[in-house]
Amino acid sequence: MQVSTPAGAKFILYQEICEQLHNLLVDERNLVANAANTAALLKQCLPDVNWVGFYFAEDEELVLGPFQGRVACTRISFGDGVCGKAAAGARTIIVPDVSKFAGHISCDPRSRSEIVVPLLNWGKLRGVLDVDSENLNRFDEDDEEGLESVASVFMTSLASDDLPDLSEEAALG
Ligand code: SME
Repeated sequence: MQVSTPAGAKFILYQEICEQLHNLLVDERNLVANAANTAALLKQCLPDVNWVGFYFAEDEELVLGPFQGRVACTRISFGDGVCGKAAAGARTIIVPDVSKFAGHISCDPRSRSEIVVPLLNWGKLRGVLDVDSENLNRFDEDDEEGLESVASVFMTSLASDDLPDLSEEAALG
């Protein structure tokens, strides 16, 4: 599914992506399988995107997960690059022009703008979703909102073993 995005249509595009993603992931809880299909769906559906992928948190580092695009760096320390800064602050970062972002890590020299969204599980950082474009200024607040929804659908799909045990709170409640 390749969809063009005239002004105002991104909201609908991301709604469709989230619906399709939910249907893709609903019967599978494996982290790698669901990350791989999420990256593939985004690469198929989002126009003007040359790299989509995951980095997962391990101690104070991000380690490369499933992705679509050219080969990428394997490990990024928290605080380094766009991914490491998004991870350290647990917040989305939009970079309109990567050449103007101090510390940007260039994996594919064709990438000119980028958005990185944190993957949060009950407030705990589990990794980031990174999307790159060959176009300057490709990503805006609609992409931020849409990709945060995508991240939420992805995180919700994961095995319940990954979720915190809330039984104590439930018992107290
Ligand atoms: N540009 C990222 C590194 C990851 S690649 O774009 C796939 C960064 O600065 O963190």
